[in-house]
Amino acid sequence: MDTPKILITGANGQLGRVLTQSLRAEYGNDAVLASDLNFPDSAENENTIFLDILNTERVKETIKDHKINQIYHMAAILSASGEYNPHKTWNVNFNAVLDLLEIMRECNVGKLFYPSTIAVFGNTTPQSMTPQDVPLLPETVYGISKTTGELWCNYYHNRYGVDVRSLRYPGIISYQSIPSGGTTDYAVEIFHEAIKHNKYTCFLGPDTTLPMMFIDDAIRATIDLMKAPKEKIKTRTSYNLSAMSFTPAQLADEIVNHIPQFEIDYEPDFRQEIANSWSESIDDSRAREEWGWNHQYDITKMTKRMITELKKIYI
Ligand code: SER
Repeated sequence: MDTPKILITGANGQLGRVLTQSLRAEYGNDAVLASDLNFPDSAENENTIFLDILNTERVKETIKDHKINQIYHMAAILSASGEYNPHKTWNVNFNAVLDLLEIMRECNVGKLFYPSTIAVFGNTTPQSMTPQDVPLLPETVYGISKTTGELWCNYYHNRYGVDVRSLRYPGIISYQSIPSGGTTDYAVEIFHEAIKHNKYTCFLGPDTTLPMMFIDDAIRATIDLMKAPKEKIKTRTSYNLSAMSFTPAQLADEIVNHIPQFEIDYEPDFRQEIANSWSESIDDSRAREEWGWNHQYDITKMTKRMITELKKIYI
């Protein structure tokens, strides 16, 4: 097997940052080239570059110059931000991946990771224990672009043998950064506000159930999927992936166990409608059967870890 030489796009995002650290810890600093449009700490690491994923020629040159054989394409505009500029979102989320698939084919790059999302599901999808193969009728441009991307990944695999692997991430909960632009972001913001101010105003209603996952599980799933033997990856659109599901009210109750004075109130905005169109829980049995996926964090373990980590930052 080739020694990994990895390019990460969107390396300054919520998942990209932690993925960069984890892949560097595993394969060494020199094996991982981190790229983004914006890097506050770029001076600290020479393996960090500015890269606009819409500049196809530059992306191709970078892949050739650095002899890249694995790409983690994490750059994207999320569900809520996407609604402010649908055409730009389509361009960034879809056209960039189509170009990348073509570069993979042309330059014979080893493997591509393509992040998909629960936003591919829509109002016609069964919301409870959503199966792997369901009609997809997403309501957001983010969901439309990710759904189309899944289909093209499957096409490039079947037609040209491009080794592309993908996960439908639930909402990701992490302490390393404050995400922005997503509908599931409340589940991160709530911890910061609970620790800083003992209260939080949630932009989703109390009973909105959404699938969620702690960052450690999400990163492990990503790296395990990329390491799995090719023949085990039978799904080339994207795998359903699941760990826990909860409502804002249930998360608030968990936080109260650590911060008794914590209070929550609710002011649902346009993101409520987006959340209502998504699944409440996900059947990810195919990922568990085919390449051994297993989550480690439930709501209680995740809450304890989030509060412990954020207290180190704030207190
Ligand atoms: N976390 C994403 C969002 O809320 C869903 O994939 O947009």
